[in-house]
Amino acid sequence: MKEKEQWSSRFGFILAAAGSAIGLGAIWKFPYVAGMNGGGAFLFVFLFFTLFLGLPLLLAEFVIGRNTQSDAVSAYKMIAPGTKWHFLGYLGMATSFLLLSFYSVIGGWIIYYLFKTLTGSLSGLTPDQYSAVFEGAISNPGISITVHFLFMLLTIIVVANGVQKGIERASRVMMPVLFLLFIVLIIRSLTLPNVIQGLTFLFEPDFSKLTSGAILAALGQSFFTLSIGVSVMVTYSSYVPKEESLPKAALSIVFLNIFVVILAGLAIFPAVFSFGLQPNAGPVLLFQVLPNVFNHMPFGMLFFLAFILLFLFASLTSAFSMLELQVAILAKGDEHLRKKWAWIIGLSIFLLGIPSALSFGPLSDIHIFGKTFFDVADYLVSNVLMPLGAFFISIFVPLKMKKSVLFSELDSGNTIPLFLFNVWFYILRYVAPVAILLVLFDVLGIWDK
Ligand code: PFF
Repeated sequence: MKEKEQWSSRFGFILAAAGSAIGLGAIWKFPYVAGMNGGGAFLFVFLFFTLFLGLPLLLAEFVIGRNTQSDAVSAYKMIAPGTKWHFLGYLGMATSFLLLSFYSVIGGWIIYYLFKTLTGSLSGLTPDQYSAVFEGAISNPGISITVHFLFMLLTIIVVANGVQKGIERASRVMMPVLFLLFIVLIIRSLTLPNVIQGLTFLFEPDFSKLTSGAILAALGQSFFTLSIGVSVMVTYSSYVPKEESLPKAALSIVFLNIFVVILAGLAIFPAVFSFGLQPNAGPVLLFQVLPNVFNHMPFGMLFFLAFILLFLFASLTSAFSMLELQVAILAKGDEHLRKKWAWIIGLSIFLLGIPSALSFGPLSDIHIFGKTFFDVADYLVSNVLMPLGAFFISIFVPLKMKKSVLFSELDSGNTIPLFLFNVWFYILRYVAPVAILLVLFDVLGIWDK
């Protein structure tokens, strides 16, 4: 039998897991969802969920993956044989399938900007002109479907060839450069005229704006940015050697993620107010704001090009993890099957994403429960499927795994105080499932009756 593949270096796992976590969620989704849900208070609740539920759940997925060293369906089967728990793996497959279908639409928008910056046609426009160019493109079926296809194609090629290791090495350089570019962007954004208004919006919590919908959105956002509840992190941690410290890895990923969320907020909100744009513009927010900021700096378009390339890279590393989860389950380590399934699943995801791609154009008036296809797919994934997955994972670990096994998983690679272990254990056992249910029920209006 072939030896189980492992990450190529000590940091390989952290880089790959951080690559899955950091992507559109922190950079594109966070600013627009915060913008639609009142800003500061949303950030506050998001941070709370990320630290108290996200971190323990991320660690729970790591423990399942490393303990079993298998794909997301077999892992649950190994721990709880003869039960239905492995359906959690199938739930993860369904979630990542639907998720990637609309994720790739936004990834496509980045590719569109890449072409635009390369041809130099994005330089020197007014805020209205930028918005018009962008809206013209995303409402055009030919353009939006083509770029969505290109994004999926890149994802399929990398996953089919199993070259994630190369990508993992590239992340080592790309991630720090992305942070540097963010700093440049923030310096420009913080020297724009309406900076105080932007910072107040982002950091001053006005809890009166916090609806039950906003609390659910914050929960969904925190799971989304950490890639939790889909078993993607189970898959990635199945390639981790025993000596690696899982709590350290989880902590680094959570803090990196929070760092990027804050960077994105600092880059976007001062600019939103300075260029007279609306913070609640929705999914188009980042794409309408960014060109303005870069346009107002020396060598702006060059910086913009660099930023777009890194942003695309960050989004692709998240997309790989979504497809990898499914391919790992279907191919079970067989290289030939890996290629076949990557193409079959990847192209099916492309097809499923077409209505989402058209939601900003010809299908923008087709509404299901008052939402476009794109919004329904996003709502289902972020606010229903991911919290449900997280709920079950959180019950599964304390219920089906021995406490001694759990302790030794957390303890290997570094020593963990018993007290902290217990805090983690009881959060998973009681706090997280109850909190997730409360939030879900609140949105269903169950408490209002
Ligand atoms: N965490 C990714 C992001 O923030 O862009 C999105 C994601 C990837 C969610 C993988 C879920 C997942 F399984």
